[in-house]
Amino acid sequence: MKKPWIVAFINFKGGVGKTANVVNIGACLAKYHRKKVLIVDIDAQCNATFWLLKRRHLSKRLEDPSLTVYQVFADHISGTRSFDFNSAVIRGVPISDEGFPYISHLDLLPSSISLMETEERLSGLHDTPYYAAMFEGLKDAVKEYDYVLIDCPPNIYNISKNALYFADAYVVPYLPDFLSLSGFRLFSKMVKSFQYQVSGYQGRKLNPRIVAVIINRYHSIGNVFDQSINELKLEMRNLKTQKLIHQCAAVLTPYIRDCVKIAECSNLHQPVIIYSEKSIGSYDYFKLTDSFINHIEEVIWAC
Ligand SMILES: Nc1ncnc2c1ncn2[C@@H]1O[C@H](COP(=O)(O)OP(=O)(O)O)[C@@H](O)[C@H]1O
Ligand SMILES: [Mg+2]
Repeated sequence: MKKPWIVAFINFKGGVGKTANVVNIGACLAKYHRKKVLIVDIDAQCNATFWLLKRRHLSKRLEDPSLTVYQVFADHISGTRSFDFNSAVIRGVPISDEGFPYISHLDLLPSSISLMETEERLSGLHDTPYYAAMFEGLKDAVKEYDYVLIDCPPNIYNISKNALYFADAYVVPYLPDFLSLSGFRLFSKMVKSFQYQVSGYQGRKLNPRIVAVIINRYHSIGNVFDQSINELKLEMRNLKTQKLIHQCAAVLTPYIRDCVKIAECSNLHQPVIIYSEKSIGSYDYFKLTDSFINHIEEVIWAC
């Protein structure tokens, strides 16, 4: 079995559940499936970082961005190799008030607001192209994990392109509203054109694609959401014939329902399965993670 599976959660819209999916699927993979999981936060807004850690557990990293993923990109820009994964990674997140890990197999490579500076400075300096900085900086360190989940910023600029290059598969968190469908089509095309752009560089052999969509903040009242999801499925059939997404790409089930406990738990620095194990949010993420594993490890692997 392949190890690790590197999965980028990406969509150029904000507020669609990228961070919520990474944090909560990561927690379920580690707690219920005993998978060794690394969450990599590459959003300068640091939402996954702050979701999983209180400021006091981050103190050194808030003052010293070299102890975050920032250093991977800074090394590429300056031609140095000072990033040290073991100093930067935080093992066993979230951390309780008493300082013990809630989920021992869940690690976090935190982000830093300094990442904003690197976005424009990343360019094709040196022998490595700008989009391969993360691949070159992390490829060896991640070998100990079963899953690496990357929480991307809401854009497809240079740092996100590093995630596209590093990942084996892309998952698109999706809000079923009428604006999302055209965004999804455009996003699929952008991913494909990026694939053409990188085909000349030989560091990575795989040809990653969009493999799944996760529906977030679903309401079953009325049929507006179901109609939007049916339109998305039709569109995915078209995109498959145009080879813009993976031939076995699917909308995963169950859909994640709108759940106040999911909204609340980020303020308390916990995944929903720790904050409120009996909530519908926990139930949905528990079941979705089963589908996620099956889809990645069985369907996509074999397809
Ligand atoms: N299923 C849900 N139910 C309720 N609130 C949610 C749900 N999923 C996400 N949220 C909330 O919606 C906001 C946006 O989600 P987030 O994961 O941060 O989106 P993104 O990372 O795509 O910008 C966050 O405040 C989050 O807590
Ligand atoms: Mg986010």
